[in-house]
Amino acid sequence: MKNMNRYLSLVALIISLISCQSEDNPNRYELIPYPNDMEQMSGRFSFDDDTQIFISPECGDEVNEILAQFAEQFGKTAGKDLKIAEKEGKNMMVVKIDTTMSQEAYRLNISKKKIEITAATPNGVRYALQTIKQLLPVAIYGETLSADENWSVPCTTINDAPRFGYRGMHLDVARHFFTLDEVKRILNVMAVHKLNTLHWHLTDDQGWRVEIKKYPRLTEVGSIRNKTMIRKEWDNYDTTPYGGFYTQDELRDMVKYAADLGITIIPEIDLPGHMMAALASYPELGCTGGPYEVSGQWGIRDDVLCVGKEKTFEFIENVLLEIIDIFPSKYIHIGGDECPKIRWEKCPACQARIQKLGLKDDEHGKAEHYLQSYTTERIEKFLNEHGREIIGWDEMLEGGLTTNATVMSWRGVAGGVEAAKQGHYAIMTPTAPLYLDYYQSRDTQNEPLAIGGYNPVDMVYNFNPIPESLTEEQAKFILGTQANIWTEYITTPEHLEYMILPRLAALSEVQWDQVENKSYDRFLDNIGHILAIYDVMGLNYAKHILEVKGEYSVNETKGCIEATLRTQGNAPIYYTLDGSEPTTNSTRYTEPIEIRTENDSCTLKAIVVREGIETRTLVRPFKFNKATGHMPQLKDAPSEKYTFGGAGVLTDGIHGDFNYSNGCWLGFINTPLDATIDLGKTQTISQVKIGSLVQYSEYIFPPTQIKVYATNGDNPMTEIGKLEIPVTQKQDQDGVREYTCEFPAVPASKIRVVIDTTDKIPAWHGAKGEKGWLFVDEISVN
Ligand code: ACM
Ligand code: ZN
Repeated sequence: MKNMNRYLSLVALIISLISCQSEDNPNRYELIPYPNDMEQMSGRFSFDDDTQIFISPECGDEVNEILAQFAEQFGKTAGKDLKIAEKEGKNMMVVKIDTTMSQEAYRLNISKKKIEITAATPNGVRYALQTIKQLLPVAIYGETLSADENWSVPCTTINDAPRFGYRGMHLDVARHFFTLDEVKRILNVMAVHKLNTLHWHLTDDQGWRVEIKKYPRLTEVGSIRNKTMIRKEWDNYDTTPYGGFYTQDELRDMVKYAADLGITIIPEIDLPGHMMAALASYPELGCTGGPYEVSGQWGIRDDVLCVGKEKTFEFIENVLLEIIDIFPSKYIHIGGDECPKIRWEKCPACQARIQKLGLKDDEHGKAEHYLQSYTTERIEKFLNEHGREIIGWDEMLEGGLTTNATVMSWRGVAGGVEAAKQGHYAIMTPTAPLYLDYYQSRDTQNEPLAIGGYNPVDMVYNFNPIPESLTEEQAKFILGTQANIWTEYITTPEHLEYMILPRLAALSEVQWDQVENKSYDRFLDNIGHILAIYDVMGLNYAKHILEVKGEYSVNETKGCIEATLRTQGNAPIYYTLDGSEPTTNSTRYTEPIEIRTENDSCTLKAIVVREGIETRTLVRPFKFNKATGHMPQLKDAPSEKYTFGGAGVLTDGIHGDFNYSNGCWLGFINTPLDATIDLGKTQTISQVKIGSLVQYSEYIFPPTQIKVYATNGDNPMTEIGKLEIPVTQKQDQDGVREYTCEFPAVPASKIRVVIDTTDKIPAWHGAKGEKGWLFVDEISVN
C-alpha cells in the first residue's frame, strides 16, 4: 500500500509538472513518434459542449466506428459529449477520406475554428486521432472523468506518413504466459506509438499456448511444464507446474481487439525446432519417438520435428489450417530458427527423405540444412495455396533462400542485407539493439533480471534499419523493423512493461520517422509527456531515461578522462568527485568534467533533481594507473560487434563487470590484442595488469599469453615481461579475472602489450577446436 501511495503521488506530480509546463508555453507538441512534417502555429482549438464530429459520407463503417470510440473515450474523460453532425460546419472535427494519399498517411489541420483529418485508410484516421490524443491532456488515456478543464489542442498543420510499412513488436508467451488482459495492455501502448503489427510467438519448447482442436493434447499436455529453472541456475528447478493457453475464441477476440487499434497480429508457430511442447504431446512426431517433456530449461533442444515422416507434415498443415482460420494476417511466421540437425543425421526416416530428394552436402551447407529448406518450401507452398505468405527467422538463408519468404533478421542485420540483395523482403530485428529482453542499464546488479546484453534507450533510438551497404533499390526490400521480447526471465506483467517501456517509444521513431527527422534531444524533451501518459494508463516503465547517464572518454590532449553527463529535459545535475553523496549544494554540471588521474582512484557521483521524482544516483568509480588517460593504438581493431567506445575503453579507469556487451570490454577473436600506449613521459614500471572476462558458455576464454615490450625515448622496443597462462580446465569458473605480468623495474615512455587469444577451444568444451573469444578491459601499468 505504501508503494501504491508513492506511486499515486508520483503520477500526480508528473501530471502537475506537465500541466505547469503547459501554462508557461501553451503550445507544446510533445509527440512520439514525432510527425515527419509539422508546422507549429499559434492559438488553440478548444473543445466545448457544442463541439461536434462530422464524418464525410465516403468514410465507411470502420472510420465511423473509430470516431465513435474516440467520442466515447473523450466523453468518459473530458465529460463532453461529442455529437455526430449531419453536415459540415464550425466548431467541428471533420473527417474525410482521400484515396490519393499513401496507405497510412494522414493530414491534420488544427485551427482555432476546426480540426480537419484527412487520410486514405482507417489506419491513417487512427494515427491522426492518436496525434490529437497526445496533444490533449494526458487524462484522455485514462478511465475516469478528469478535473482538467483545458480540453484544447494547439493549432498545427501536419502532413505525416510512416517511414516503414511494417512497424512491429514481438512477444513470446511460451516461456512465460501472459493473460489476454496483459497482452491487451501491450497492444494499447503499441497503438499510442503507431505500431501496426504484433508478432505473437505462441509456441516453443517450454509451452504450447494456442488451442488446436484437432490435436487437444497440445494444450492438455504441451501447455504445461512440470518444472522451471530458477533464474539462471541451469540445474536448479522450481517444481511447481507452470502453464497457460488461449482458446480459439479468446484468440479471435484478441484479433478483433488488435484490429480495432489498427494492429495486425502475426502468429508464429516455430518449426521444425523449438517443438518440445508438441513432441511431449505427440511423441510420434519426433525422430526417436521420445519420451519427451515440455522443457523446464531455456536454450536450444536437440529434439525437433522429424521431417522424414509424412505424418509430421500432416500435423503441421492441420495446425496451420486452424491458425489461419483464427488469424486473418497476410503473413504467418513459421520460425525456423535454432534447429539442430543432430537427430536428423541419425534418423532413418529423415535420411530416407534426404536420399529420395537427392539432397547432398555441398560448400554451402549439409544435406540436413537442405532438408530444412525443403520443409520451409513445402510449408510455404501449403500456406500460399491458402492465400498466405510466410516469414521466417534468418537461419532460413542457410540452405539457400529458395522460397519467397520474408526474412526476419535477428542475428544482426546481415541476414536482412543478404535477403534484400537477393530481392527478398526482410524485417530488421537485430539482437543489438532491438532485443528488449536485454539490459537497458549497465548497473545490472540493480536491475530486474535480463537475459544479458545492453540495449539502452538511446541505442534503440539511434538504430537505422537500412544499412549503408544497401542501394536505394535494395533498401525497398526492407519492409520495416520490430523489437523482440523473449520472456525466459520475464515472469510478470510489471517486468514485461518495464522491459518494453520506454524503449518502445524510441523504437517508434525508428519505425515512423525519416532519418533526417529524428532527434534524440527532441525525443528526450518529449518523453516526459509520454511517461505521464504511461502513468495514466497504469503502465510500469523503466526510469533510466530520467536518471543521469554518464559517458566517459579518454582525452589524450588534456591527459584526462572526460565525463559527459546528460539526462532527460533540462533538469539540473549535481556531482561530486570525492565519493561524498551529491546534494543541491554540490557542483552543478554544466560541461564535460575533466577527471584527473594523479590520485589512485576517484568516484564520480551525480544526481538529477526533479521535484517529486527520485531516481538512482550515478556512481562511477575510477581506478587510475600510469596508463590511464593515454589512448592506446591498436594494431588490429577489435571485432566490430564488440568495439564500443574503441581503444580508450582499455585506459579509461573503468573496470568491466560480468556483462560482456555493456561497453566496458573489447572483444577479439581472430587477432591478438596488440596495443601500444604512450605513457606521456618516462615512468618507472614493473607491472602490467589486464582485466579479462571469462564466460565459457559464451566461448569467452582467458588469454593464453601476455607479452610486454617497452622503450624509453627513441630506443627500440624490447620485451620486458611475459606471462604464460595455463590451458583452462573444465572445472574453472567463469568470472572477471586479472592477470599480472611482473618484471624488474624499468624506465619506459612507451609500452606495447600483446595478448593472445585462444586459437583452439579445449576438448572438454562443446565448441572444441573453434577459436575462443578474448574480452579485455583495463590495461593497468604500475
Ligand atoms: C531468436 O531469437 N531465436 C529468433
Ligand atoms: Zn527424423
